[in-house]
Amino acid sequence: MKMKRILKWTAASILLVLVLWFFIAYWTSTNDCGRNSASKNPMKAIVYCDYGPANVRLDEIEKPSPSDDQILVKVRAVSVNPIDWHYIEGTPYIMRMQVGLRKPKDIRLGVDYSGTVEAVGKNVTNFKPGDDVFGGRNGAFAEYVCARADRGVANGASGGVGTFAVQIAKTLGADVTGVCSTRNLDLVKSLGADRVIDYTKEDFTNSPERYDVLVDNVANRSLSECRRVIKPNGRYVLVGGGGPNDQGLIGPLARPLKAMVFSWFVSQKMGMVFASFNHNDMATLADLMQAGKVTPVIDRSYKLAQVGDAIRYLEEGHARGKIILTVD
Ligand SMILES: NC(=O)c1ccc[n+]([C@@H]2O[C@H](COP(=O)([O-])OP(=O)(O)OC[C@H]3O[C@@H](n4cnc5c(N)ncnc54)[C@H](OP(=O)(O)O)[C@@H]3O)[C@@H](O)[C@H]2O)c1
Repeated sequence: MKMKRILKWTAASILLVLVLWFFIAYWTSTNDCGRNSASKNPMKAIVYCDYGPANVRLDEIEKPSPSDDQILVKVRAVSVNPIDWHYIEGTPYIMRMQVGLRKPKDIRLGVDYSGTVEAVGKNVTNFKPGDDVFGGRNGAFAEYVCARADRGVANGASGGVGTFAVQIAKTLGADVTGVCSTRNLDLVKSLGADRVIDYTKEDFTNSPERYDVLVDNVANRSLSECRRVIKPNGRYVLVGGGGPNDQGLIGPLARPLKAMVFSWFVSQKMGMVFASFNHNDMATLADLMQAGKVTPVIDRSYKLAQVGDAIRYLEEGHARGKIILTVD
């Protein structure tokens, strides 16, 4: 009986705290509107100080300036998306937990844009003023947006997956570093990598660089070591790793579980991706190959009957690109 009363009072107290928290959070939910003194360097932009279509207006706000890793884009055109309508209405209401309970936290609207690079931050090497670009960035309904020039690193850049990863990342406009051995440095550079790290001489996880994305095809460094080179809001993308002598009961499958658990406690997103042979991805890849932007790297070809030799070679773990079986 006493236990029941304790549970009842505990539940009631928690509910009261939650209701109080909600009211305080609701009434303190605010944004920059009205607090802006005259902009020193103004630009035209669409803003909304409160939820609802009637509150959307053209105004002048401060022109953004790019940080070291960003580009400043002069916007030429922006597409209007259903997501803009959700931001304007603040619905479904659950999204207000993130975007502002009573008022929108970010008063700018718009997502995907095209335009021309006007200035680049000092760490940006893959874009220059005058480049035509497109991308997605909050606040794109404006004369200017600052966007991040993503930096990525592929551990295992010379293998079957890595040779594609480097080329695809380049087509997406990323600044790419490839980790490979001395004999593959030229190959990985020829695929478009902006920088290469020779793993026989240097441990990429000790590098002072910080990346937005680490694509890991080898999984030979611990997750903590990998995290050192990923920006606080970056991603660790596990593709695979662990050779034939590293299998056991679950072998490399423990790592995706560790990455998932890590992800709960750190600011970076960490997890595994699995190839999915869906129509859209295959069509995109086919278009890139037809346009000559992605070219498969073929190491060796074997006859179908030589499958044993092909597998033995693969198991050595030193393929340069793909190993092929020809059927006719
Ligand atoms: N998640 C998925 O959907 C998916 C899909 C495909 C593959 N995978 C997995 O992803 C992993 C990679 O696949 P893959 O096809 O790229 O394998 P692979 O072609 O056999 O990879 C061999 C390459 O890895 C390089 N390498 C070996 N040790 C390295 C190290 N310490 N640092 C950097 N590079 C190193 C080798 O270069 P050197 O000769 O110079 O050492 C070689 O070029 C495998 O575990 C595979 O099972 C996963």
